Amino acid sequence: MSFDLVAPHYRWLETIAFGNALQRARTCWIDTIARPKRTLIFGEGDGRFLCELVRAYPKIDVDCVDASETMLQLARARLRRMHPESFSRVHFFCEDILKWSPRKSYDLLVTHFFLDCFSGRELQALIAKLASAAEPGAVWLVADFTIPGKSFAQAHARLWLRMMYAFFRTTARIAANELVDPIPYLVGNGFIQAAGKLSRGRMLRSDMYVAVTKFGSAAR
Ligand SMILES: C[S@@+](CC[C@H](N)C(=O)[O-])C[C@H]1O[C@@H](n2cnc3c(N)ncnc32)[C@H](O)[C@@H]1O
Repeated sequence: MSFDLVAPHYRWLETIAFGNALQRARTCWIDTIARPKRTLIFGEGDGRFLCELVRAYPKIDVDCVDASETMLQLARARLRRMHPESFSRVHFFCEDILKWSPRKSYDLLVTHFFLDCFSGRELQALIAKLASAAEPGAVWLVADFTIPGKSFAQAHARLWLRMMYAFFRTTARIAANELVDPIPYLVGNGFIQAAGKLSRGRMLRSDMYVAVTKFGSAAR
């Protein structure tokens, strides 16, 4: 798996396919959350969410992890250009989440259009890993595709997803070939949904989860 090839084209391809809908989904809850102390963004991509986060909360500490060095270069360049005042507080790491282990704990986790890159088995393991890095009460923001219940909207979403999986399996060699619902794994790791919004014909969801337990044990 590598998004290096697709990274320079990611933004314009997204804009042609979805206009500004994905960026609206990513940034939906930024102004609602409390100012984070330590943020972990996994699979950030080209830095557009990161820049909006530090616009809202300047000079916060952020660990930004992605397996694509090209994506990280784009994110670094965008941050330096748009928010130089925050640059020294953001740490970039080129790591594969399947090999990564948390070294710190965070009160904000962000995984936008990232969990959809993984199979059910991988998702189960990586959500448990990310959840183990969450402080009690931590917020986890997840924007992603979803499959609506109603038949026309469902057929429309399935068609888009089929095309996107074909595209990313070819260009980025992702292993997943279908969308796996992450919600049972988030709930199973002690997160409850605090807010959610559907958009773009109900095929995009922006969810806010809150950690109510730590490492699977009940919070007291
Ligand atoms: C579909 S893009 C999403 C980018 C961005 N978060 C967004 O909102 O559009 C998936 C991102 O996750 C990264 N990624 C995919 N698999 C990964 C892995 N196993 N470990 C770390 N990053 C990964 C890719 O390099 C890419 O930047």
